[in-house]
Amino acid sequence: MIGDKKVLYSAVQATGNLTIGNYLGALRNWVNLCDEYECFFAVANEHSITVRQEPAALRKHARELLTLYIAAGLDPEKNCLYYQSHVPAHAELAWILNCYTYMGELSRMTQFKDKSAKHEDNVNAGLFTYPVLMAADILLFQADYVPVGVDQKQHLELTRDIAMRFNSIYGDVFTIPEVYLGKTGRKIMSLQDPSKKMSKSDENPNAYILMMDDKDTIIRKFKRAITDSDTQVRYSDDKPGVSNLIDIYASCTGKSTEEIEKEFEGQGYGQFKLAVGEAVADVLTPIQERYADLSKNKDYIDGIIKNNAEKANYFANKTLRKVQKKVGFPELIR
Ligand code: TRP
Repeated sequence: MIGDKKVLYSAVQATGNLTIGNYLGALRNWVNLCDEYECFFAVANEHSITVRQEPAALRKHARELLTLYIAAGLDPEKNCLYYQSHVPAHAELAWILNCYTYMGELSRMTQFKDKSAKHEDNVNAGLFTYPVLMAADILLFQADYVPVGVDQKQHLELTRDIAMRFNSIYGDVFTIPEVYLGKTGRKIMSLQDPSKKMSKSDENPNAYILMMDDKDTIIRKFKRAITDSDTQVRYSDDKPGVSNLIDIYASCTGKSTEEIEKEFEGQGYGQFKLAVGEAVADVLTPIQERYADLSKNKDYIDGIIKNNAEKANYFANKTLRKVQKKVGFPELIR
């Protein structure tokens, strides 16, 4: 708790552009949480280097992500939006928690298995202990709730296990976090292969819509989206492409599946795809405009980064000091 509010924590990796999947499934749902919770949203640039990054690009992407948080509507006065690398306690707590996490647990993480298969030439120790750093992120802020997608649930389970293990040895040090299940909308799938999640790392750019794609690009990509040989706009397991488009359209317009099926009855896919493209552009355009304005205002963004780093360090250090004391590290002599 901070004051009378429960704490909510999440982070996004600072690697390149976000897709509408990130927006509709995460960012957008975070916007109003700050009234109810004390919210921290990090730019997880320390996690990013588990895969080789070009330094200038990593720096640029981190700033873009932080700016995008604000453009998407997260108020930087009410939410703590900060760079993970500005808070040394993340790495320090991660080290300590490494000593309370088993190799066996980390070996079972599906993301580790996937990523080590994908980056065979660089299976570094950081990739292996990635979930421990994530646990440190969450536990440092004594988070009650963590909104994450299904792909990160296993990491959150591990976080809980580590926290409970630590607490059982040292007493109540960490709040045990829970997954935050808000309005989740359906998972947004690839436009080219609706059996796969939409991902910005897909080799085919037509598979995803980026938050920064302009209207023409968006409409072009939806026109090329995979559907089926039928012509009916109908939600069904055997129509995964069309169903994904219905989900996206519903998510952007607030209309129900039934309303959408009715709206496009007898119209075929062409009209429907165009409407989906336009609906997505209508949602993204104002964010892109705010983003463009914000990016021009260097001093404002710098001020946000500075103030929020101070705030994050304050809360993180409180927990870190407590943990250090518990494990037996002597206090600094001043
Ligand atoms: N690992 C998360 C992802 O790739 C990002 C992340 C880092 C995170 N630290 C976190 C998410 C803490 C929630 C809480 O999506």
